[in-house]
Amino acid sequence: MTADEFQYFAALLEKHAGIALDAGKEYLVEARLGAVARDGGFASVGALLQDLRQNAMGRAHWLAIEALTTNETSFFRDEHPFNALREVILPDLIARRAASRTLNIWCAAASTGQEPYSLAMLLRDRFPQLLNWNISFLATDISETVLARAREGRFNATEIGRGLPPEFRQRYFTPEGDGLRVRDEIRRMVAFRAMNLIGPWPNMPELDLVLLRNVLIYFNVETKRNILQKVQRYLRPDGCLLLGAAESTLHIEESYEVVHLERTAYYRVRRTAASPVSLGLNWAV
Ligand SMILES: C[S@@+](CC[C@H](N)C(=O)[O-])C[C@H]1O[C@@H](n2cnc3c(N)ncnc32)[C@H](O)[C@@H]1O
Repeated sequence: MTADEFQYFAALLEKHAGIALDAGKEYLVEARLGAVARDGGFASVGALLQDLRQNAMGRAHWLAIEALTTNETSFFRDEHPFNALREVILPDLIARRAASRTLNIWCAAASTGQEPYSLAMLLRDRFPQLLNWNISFLATDISETVLARAREGRFNATEIGRGLPPEFRQRYFTPEGDGLRVRDEIRRMVAFRAMNLIGPWPNMPELDLVLLRNVLIYFNVETKRNILQKVQRYLRPDGCLLLGAAESTLHIEESYEVVHLERTAYYRVRRTAASPVSLGLNWAV
């Protein structure tokens, strides 16, 4: 791959997916596009890139972009945010929404589904009172390939071995083939849809809880800010935003404030004197 081809592809990737590739990442593009080139009948990654360059944006370009997404995920990833959800964030939100009995949740980079299913299992297991609530749980990703897997809800032994507590495996999975499948009662809780965070956003209700974890790290500062500003327009004044362990709103979008919890944190829209939120409970612990 020539420097020119790399630059072309890096610009394409950033323009259409927001993913910023640093200089020196040629090896990554070579590795990830190898299979795409082979499947398309191209002799090399360079030949694939030349072809993409000569043609208008289409399916082949999206396949190449998708190959550069990093879909790493696991059940109850990082543990502490899920402990905070179980012990503080969800009990508090549920108490606040007792009158409306409505909760709107969005998992914005859901990958193969482990993250939204972890949360769905937590809701079902620890908050049985929600059974007759109106819960909207949307999980989105740019990649149709990972979404197809997420909807299926089938996981192999390695994936199951990464973070899934044995009691949840027993309660919410059934053996299928050489792996396990999430039971229908959990799968039905989550609606998976394709959505590009840097494209137009669909209509969504006002959100109580947003998981935007381990995706901002791939974007440049301006893209991070745009996305955080857009999230803010959907997030209810007392709603919660969870980011990945290596991510923060600090020095990027100052309209959020961080709430520190034990070994983790979440973000909420900064309260100003003009827009106090009447709290029934104390958020900070
Ligand atoms: C590293 S995974 C994170 C999965 C999960 N949130 C977690 O923390 O385990 C990042 C996901 O972001 C998705 N992604 C990357 N760029 C995106 C974009 N522009 N819009 C929506 N999703 C995107 C990728 O397809 C990938 O599945």
